[in-house]
Amino acid sequence: MITTSKELLDKAYKNKYAVGHFNIYNLETIQSVINACEKLNSPAILATSEGAIEYAGHKELFLMIKTLAEESKVPFAIHLDHGRNSEIIKKCIQLGYTSIMFDGSKKEFEENVKQTEKVVNLCEDKNISVEGELGTIGGAEEDVTSRKILLTDSNKAKEFIERTGIDCLAVAIGTSHGAYKFVASKRPQLDIRRLQEINKLCQIPLVLHGASEVPKQLVKLANKYGAKIKDVRGVPLTQLKQAIKNGIAKVNTDTDLRLAFTSGIRHQLAVNKTEFNPRSFFSEGKKEMQKVVEQRIKELGSEGRV
Ligand code: G3H
Ligand code: 13P
Ligand code: ZN
Repeated sequence: MITTSKELLDKAYKNKYAVGHFNIYNLETIQSVINACEKLNSPAILATSEGAIEYAGHKELFLMIKTLAEESKVPFAIHLDHGRNSEIIKKCIQLGYTSIMFDGSKKEFEENVKQTEKVVNLCEDKNISVEGELGTIGGAEEDVTSRKILLTDSNKAKEFIERTGIDCLAVAIGTSHGAYKFVASKRPQLDIRRLQEINKLCQIPLVLHGASEVPKQLVKLANKYGAKIKDVRGVPLTQLKQAIKNGIAKVNTDTDLRLAFTSGIRHQLAVNKTEFNPRSFFSEGKKEMQKVVEQRIKELGSEGRV
């Protein structure tokens, strides 16, 4: 069934667990997430980035998600991830998305407030939840050592929420997107104290972007079958759990899923040299991705929360 992310996140925030936001971009990735959620009776947020929309087609991707999610017994929100383009945002509203992130984090505070509020106004009567972002989360392409990450200020966060009316807030507490999140010479460390301050003042569900763990065994599997991935640095599970205890109610995962999906495909390509039916390769990709989603659901504590 389809619901809003506000519905899912308010409940998670109150009960101190988190709902998984999983990035998807084709039939196989949608099925991997939905199958995992149905197996474990877990809600989830099915997220499409602007890049995913460009890859798959907006209406095509939306209709695939809607068809599969509607038929399911577990609740899903259909979400736009890092929305920056106003035409794409308007199209999401038109199509029937139930959740939109407006990412104004690269703008000045006042401009971010103004533009986020505009999106809230567009979504208000349509029962669409809105996620805003304050502070910066590093991007996958940047050099980790030279990244300029501005962590979220708690007073500014409170003001931002009051002035925009958003339903949940993405905070910057030290994570970044992609597989290389932390400087290799330092211990990965989230700013949990800052998160506690934000949570104390804001009292709405908070969102952790760049939350992939980048599990060593997945990287090992990928490398065994031809990948050349090294020096990865993900978010340690103990710190993720601490973050969930302190207000994080939505956890965004993309990198781990990409790694799992392609590892499955790499494995099949390597061991099954006479095969050339794409379905057999995609099936392995789906299997590996579903395993990761299931593990994530257990880690976040959303199993059985339907
Ligand atoms: O936060 C970003 C997500 O990982 C989406 O990445 O824009 O390459 O689809 P993408
Ligand atoms: P990862 O790159 O850590 O998976 O983060 C994904 C994300 O934040 C999507 O918005
Ligand atoms: Zn993100």
